[in-house]
Amino acid sequence: METMITNNPGEVMARESEHVLQTYRRSPVVFERGNACRLYDAAGRGYLDFISGIGVSSLGHAHPRLTAAIADQAAQLLHTSNLYFHPLQGEVATRLAELSGLPRVFFCNSGTEAVEASLKFARRFWFSQGAPRTEVVSLERGFHGRTMGALSVTWDDHYRAPFSPLLDGVTFVSNTDPAELLAAVNERTAAIIAEPLQGEGGVRPLSAEMAAAIRTACERSGALFIADEVQCGLGRTGVPFYSAQLGLQPDIMATGKALGGGVPVGAALFSARVAAAAAFGDHGSTYGGNLLACRAAQVFLDELTSGLMAHVAQIGPHIEAALRRVAARHSAVVDVRGAGVIWGMELDRPAAPVVEAALERGLLINRTAETVLRLLPPYIVESADVDQMAVLLDAALDAGIRGDR
Ligand SMILES: Cc1ncc(COP(=O)(O)O)c(C=O)c1O
Repeated sequence: METMITNNPGEVMARESEHVLQTYRRSPVVFERGNACRLYDAAGRGYLDFISGIGVSSLGHAHPRLTAAIADQAAQLLHTSNLYFHPLQGEVATRLAELSGLPRVFFCNSGTEAVEASLKFARRFWFSQGAPRTEVVSLERGFHGRTMGALSVTWDDHYRAPFSPLLDGVTFVSNTDPAELLAAVNERTAAIIAEPLQGEGGVRPLSAEMAAAIRTACERSGALFIADEVQCGLGRTGVPFYSAQLGLQPDIMATGKALGGGVPVGAALFSARVAAAAAFGDHGSTYGGNLLACRAAQVFLDELTSGLMAHVAQIGPHIEAALRRVAARHSAVVDVRGAGVIWGMELDRPAAPVVEAALERGLLINRTAETVLRLLPPYIVESADVDQMAVLLDAALDAGIRGDR
């Protein structure tokens, strides 16, 4: 007999509160279905989704091609492990290599695993050189994930402190001071890791000067550059990867989020010289790159390269203009930053009440770095959605800032 699943919000929340590890402070809403840029709760109320599962539902919800491909793949074959070949992994790796210029891919299941693989193969590279280097330079406000390695290079002490000791040899430098970065990188540095456009840290693109400092520091010391493009990469800014936009040539790149459109997929990408250090048995993942994951990634990459990235590039300025119009009406807004379908609106005060007011009005956004409203709409977002977002956000700012809902 099939288990009866309740969709009564009170019961859903009560059941979770008993048996789910309490690591998430969820908003009090239970979603049941979605379509394009909209989510619907159990009562049938629609919400405009401008957070897309934190940058994951790149094709929106219930995308017809992705849905059909997943169903078709499930009916054929889901998983065989990495003991055997299947036709899709090489196919997706080829597409990622074309897009990134990095010729080899390791498939995993999340962004944090892509970062772990990146850190491991940075060490592996230096180990193979016969001159091991283990130190890493990372940036303030950087976020790289929750597993022990990725956490070690994540800046916010709030995430790290309860789990220390973490990896030794990590130095954090200002994300806005090129001289500090240049001074910190030396012949012991295995790698510099940075998000070319910081997501969790408040939607902050690195400056051209910081990018130049990363380039110079790597050239001088031989350190590898790991670009964490888990959030900002894969076309989200209207170009394949934001590091290239900054004139950076990563040796290693971590990707995830948008790649599976909702199916968990991560991928670490490697230059030829870093990849050359890898040997059979060095690293692995039971699920990594299985047929379901690769089929979903294949659909996403097909869509991305047949018009969707151009759409993101074209809708980005429209989102920016809408946000700037809203910002002009609210003195609490101090900055608007971003590109494509990743935007941050910084306030002069905590952003949480505005996020709550937006939810009440049927708009899904989130808060990051305390004072920043973050918008990560699906790549397929249309002008009409943007216009509706602006109306709802304007009202949410009024309500959230006055504290009068
Ligand atoms: C830049 C960046 N790196 C890594 C991660 C970790 O990804 P995941 O949550 O899929 O492990 C995130 C998640 O937000 C991220 O934004």
